[in-house]
Amino acid sequence: MKLTLKIWRQKSAKDKGAFASYPMDNVSSEMSMLECLDVLNETLIERGEEPVAFEHDCREGICGSCGFMINGVAHGPQRATTVCQLTMRHFKDGEELIIEPWRAGAFPQIKDLVVDRRAFDRIIAAGGYISVSTGNAPDGNVIPVGKEIADRSMDAAACIGCGACVAACPNAAAALFTGAKISHLSVLPQGAPERDHRAVNMVAQMNAEDFGGCTNIGECTAVCPKEIPLEVIAIMNRDYIRGSWKKRSDEITTTAPVTGWSSERS
Ligand code: SF4
Ligand code: FES
Repeated sequence: MKLTLKIWRQKSAKDKGAFASYPMDNVSSEMSMLECLDVLNETLIERGEEPVAFEHDCREGICGSCGFMINGVAHGPQRATTVCQLTMRHFKDGEELIIEPWRAGAFPQIKDLVVDRRAFDRIIAAGGYISVSTGNAPDGNVIPVGKEIADRSMDAAACIGCGACVAACPNAAAALFTGAKISHLSVLPQGAPERDHRAVNMVAQMNAEDFGGCTNIGECTAVCPKEIPLEVIAIMNRDYIRGSWKKRSDEITTTAPVTGWSSERS
């Protein structure tokens, strides 16, 4: 099939970007989108031109490295599919594809289709782990976890940190990602001891980055390649509110002066 790839080219954050058109003949419908870019890059290298920079690693939909907009849709037209798993059969012969990087203030441009997603790492570092001593590795099934709870945790843990949810959100919010990272631990008994301050710290870090606020539009879950449900945002909000109140009442308890008020008057 013949396709024209109209790709955003930008040498660096400091340079001005622009679209460049690349007509391609003989695109196999069996190729993935990334393989199609590989073929284009071979041609560009042969012509002595700079290849298109894009991120990838596993090419199996599990690492979260890849991702860009195709015709305005994060990861392209196929639901629940990363661009590394998206095959060219989903496009029509003769079609023009507009390929752009994620656009979000919190994801600064690096080059071509590559943006800096380290804001996600900083959110994880703020609490997306379990630090309480858990002793030696326990035998399997020592802590009973019901099937429904295990499924909810697994559904949230499927988030690969690709950033499509941010790119699709009109507010560039990171609520689906942060909610997934909070709730896959919080719903399990092992994650319960740190549940409250995990949510408070991770939401505080999310707010400190340049992400927008969540207004429950739902574009995030519509484009998520792992179909993370909006429910994780509700879990995040509940944990955050409870954690904030607990933090406040702990601060009031520990900072209130001991006056001996009642005994002095009795
Ligand atoms: S929630 Fe979905 S879209 Fe967002 S980072 Fe995780 S896998 Fe990607
Ligand atoms: S390259 Fe790993 S998810 Fe696409």
